[in-house]
Amino acid sequence: MSQRTLVLLKPDAVRRGLIGEIIGRIERKADWTISALELRTLDQDVLEQHYGEHKGKPFYEPLVAFMSSGPVVALVVEGERVIEGVRALAGPTDPIAAAPGSIRGDFGTIVRENLIHASDSEESAERELKIFFPSFA
Ligand code: PPS
Repeated sequence: MSQRTLVLLKPDAVRRGLIGEIIGRIERKADWTISALELRTLDQDVLEQHYGEHKGKPFYEPLVAFMSSGPVVALVVEGERVIEGVRALAGPTDPIAAAPGSIRGDFGTIVRENLIHASDSEESAERELKIFFPSFA
């Protein structure tokens, strides 16, 4: 089943020079295509729309501060089961719990700086794509 997902390479990935490494892992998956890609500094308005469901949780303020601490790379990736697939490449939220071979397992240590965001369902993907790439929605 072909799908579209929104992927963000977070400010730690950009600062640490891991853009190519992470995008390379996505590109090497058979039949997945990157159909949009942009380096962008996120403002409060976009972050509030994107992470609105987490407002009030203890990690919300640190997450928004971190996500606006430098540019991110926003991508649209399309292909077979890409929503589940990019999340499998990323590994679980906590990098210490992430298996070696996953992006977070190979490069992360602390939860806040977990390198990559990927939509978690078709509904989230459609909502997030509208925020970041309105022309794709
Ligand atoms: S929840 O409550 O289960 O829905 O939360 P979860 O899916 O694990 O995480 C939602 C996003 O919050 C980020 N997160 C954090 N950021 C900073 N500090 C802490 N402690 C923290 N815990 C979770 C997590 O990486 C998710 O962001 P995205 O961009 O979706 O990966």
